[in-house]
Amino acid sequence: MAYKIAVIPGDGTGPEVTAEAVKVLKAAAEKFNFKVDLTEFDFGGERYKRTGETLPDSGVEELRGFDAILLGAIGHPDVAPGILEKGILLKARFDLDQYINLRPVRLYPGVETPLKNKGPEDIDFVVVRENTGDLYTGTGGFTMRGTPHEVAVQSAVYTRFQVDRCLKYAFEYARKYGKKARGRGENNTLALSGKTNVLTYVYDLWERAFNEMGEKEYPDIAREYYHVDATCMWFVKNPEWFDVIVTGNMFGDIITDLGAMIQGGMGVAAGGNINPEGVSMFEPIGGSAPKYTGKGVINPLAAICAAQMMLETLGQDEAAGRIEEAVKFVTANKLKSLAAGKMGYSTSEVGDLVAETLVE
Ligand code: IPM
Ligand code: MN
Repeated sequence: MAYKIAVIPGDGTGPEVTAEAVKVLKAAAEKFNFKVDLTEFDFGGERYKRTGETLPDSGVEELRGFDAILLGAIGHPDVAPGILEKGILLKARFDLDQYINLRPVRLYPGVETPLKNKGPEDIDFVVVRENTGDLYTGTGGFTMRGTPHEVAVQSAVYTRFQVDRCLKYAFEYARKYGKKARGRGENNTLALSGKTNVLTYVYDLWERAFNEMGEKEYPDIAREYYHVDATCMWFVKNPEWFDVIVTGNMFGDIITDLGAMIQGGMGVAAGGNINPEGVSMFEPIGGSAPKYTGKGVINPLAAICAAQMMLETLGQDEAAGRIEEAVKFVTANKLKSLAAGKMGYSTSEVGDLVAETLVE
């Protein structure tokens, strides 16, 4: 088996962490007898500064020819906020119709969480964030811009089609990877996080679709509902309540940053932008951390976990499982901290540790 992987190292510390993810990927490929055929792309801030180009349509077309995409980080201190995010990250998500943003929130052993008296058995859930609709569609505009009467409108947009395909993925995911399926609980549970008390159109649609699909097609999956603000409250107070959570794009963006913090920070949080029928893209969810660029102090575990998610999505479950075990071994036994500069090892040494553990 050979996989064609597009690698976009990107900006800032992106290339450093991507190099470690690639190191681990190659070690896993050798150990588990598959091949990875890597092609690098230079989309990012430097290319934009040089050519004015973000992710051109021709780039999207090229990316369609790959089995998966591994992304480092996008974001450059010399480029105005929004240009690269919209032009590269969001463009890839939209044009490749990566309609799921899968973000596991798992506290690995030895990793410090800011939550008092909570451990790896408590912090173990997954957020399925819808990735193509909502406030992110850019539906809206200004009138009377720059005047005292200026009006700005930006609408949360969802179609039934978008909601249904996301819910279907989330229910299927809960059936396959929920707590019962993993021997960790009585039920596989899917919780909808919404705001049905205020967003009485958009989350009414989500809630009806959620209950209809759950009742008809997934009677084996327990259903829960939380308002998004309460979701934040319970993430902090009772994270052990959660199993699989499904939510819209904007709420998903926000609650997964909170999730990343309770799992030990951006050093370890990874996500997948998934098109189950197409090309998916995996990334560490932290930014490009420009101030650490080139110093060899940034934590590559999030990028390594992104590669792990990529292998899982490609069907290399054994290799993916082994990478996760190796990461856990390294957090439990080696790293002093997950924070940049405080790991007790350099970026490439952490990559070596995971790669060595993996092949043992
Ligand atoms: C994320 C990021 C992006 C988002 C930004 C950079 C556009 O915050 O991946 O969560 O809002 O989705
Ligand atoms: Mn975000």
